[in-house]
Amino acid sequence: MPTSKKVEPKKAAGTEEGAAPKKGAQPIQTTRGMRDILPIDQPHWQRIAEVFQAMARDYGFERIDTPMVEDASLFVRGVGKVTDIVEKELFQWETPGGEHVALRPENTASIVRAYVQHGMLNQPQPVRLWYKGPFFRYDRPQAGRFRQFFQGGFEVLGEADAVIDAQLILISYNILRELGLDPIVKVNSLGTPESRANYKNALVAFFRSKKNKLTEDDKKRLLKNPLRLLDSKEEHMQELKAEAPQIVDWLDEESKTHFMRVLEYLDEAQVPYQLDPYLVRGLDYYTKTVFEWFAASDDQELAQAALGGGGRYDGLTELLGGRPTPAAGFALGLDRVVSRLKDLHPNTTTQVRKVDVFLAQLGEVARKKALVLFEEFRKAGIPVGEAFAKASMKGQMEAANKHGAKWAIIIGQKEVMDGTAILRDMDAGTQEIVDIKKAVHEVKKKLGHISPQA
Ligand code: HAM
Repeated sequence: MPTSKKVEPKKAAGTEEGAAPKKGAQPIQTTRGMRDILPIDQPHWQRIAEVFQAMARDYGFERIDTPMVEDASLFVRGVGKVTDIVEKELFQWETPGGEHVALRPENTASIVRAYVQHGMLNQPQPVRLWYKGPFFRYDRPQAGRFRQFFQGGFEVLGEADAVIDAQLILISYNILRELGLDPIVKVNSLGTPESRANYKNALVAFFRSKKNKLTEDDKKRLLKNPLRLLDSKEEHMQELKAEAPQIVDWLDEESKTHFMRVLEYLDEAQVPYQLDPYLVRGLDYYTKTVFEWFAASDDQELAQAALGGGGRYDGLTELLGGRPTPAAGFALGLDRVVSRLKDLHPNTTTQVRKVDVFLAQLGEVARKKALVLFEEFRKAGIPVGEAFAKASMKGQMEAANKHGAKWAIIIGQKEVMDGTAILRDMDAGTQEIVDIKKAVHEVKKKLGHISPQA
């Protein structure tokens, strides 16, 4: 997205400057690529949050939150100038103060910025960080692709050993498995910048020799970012790719040994993987190991969209002005994970909150008493329900049953005058009169929180 011009806010249809909207005006909708996450889907998001938290605790990762707005140059430098993310998909603008800023399209560059900015190099290494939050890419919306989406990720900074790459793959595998998915990871190695440059030359020479078989788009890619040609899902490229030189044959010795060790660790940990010589990833900062997660989906288009990805980025810290620091990480696309969870559990409903006691009232004065009594129950830690806006006793008793209340406290005009309340056993249908000041105490006794003699 080019730097945005100053645009006048669109007037809602049917509104005049300064006038109230006319009746029947068009309702305003979310903008393209943006969506609401409704209560019905929240249990899936909640589950993901729990699994991330549990894994972070088990593997010793600490939470970090970085800002959604960063200096745009962080991503231009970090993610790469000629990547789709920076060239086409950055939400960026000029602030009134003249700063060129962008909504974060990913978090790795921000994590590295934070690592350098806060001197984390001086902490015991490696530093293990995790995050979860919204990210923004001005992309063409389609199945599993949004302009605001969520990622959860883990990053390890300050360690070069191949065991870290394998452990990150293992952690992401465990997260997806714990959520009930059956994922497969595709892995490849991109080597060092030098070996990658040599490979790039060989690839360009190969595709140049096949120029007549390339589309205009392919030719543009060949000039700008030839590795991305390997990403192509188009029919005509499949045969060409099969003949193209493969990156593994161009790896330097160290990268080759590193990759072999990653695969050995994965074998040992019994993580199922596929070697994918065409996996190049869409961000420039990767060195050596790269990987992407996939899982079956009812939606064919979605099945081809990665659930997550990651890899090693040993050069990024230095690129962003820090001391050379090896690092690796991954991020899962949570919107896509949720789609799979919805495939698996299509009948999720919003949960009705269960309560122990329900407050019912008849008349305005009783309602005031009930409003205050509600606070007393809440402070005592007893799950309590109400339907203060309902006037009829029948409606309130129905609500009490819906919330699974074992007890109801009923306050009418007579009870207000007497300073009492009716305590009703919802199952047995029996009721007794209690002092309203002792209502919380009486319910505690009934619930067995305190002994009946107390
Ligand atoms: P990425 O592959 O660009 O990697 O994004 C990771 C995941 O985020 C994708 O596999 C996908 O599931 C999800 N995702 C990306 N764009 C969208 C979108 N427009 N709509 C919905 N989901 C999307 C990174 O961002 C790296 N920072 C990962 C990483 C961490 N590498 C090392 N550490």
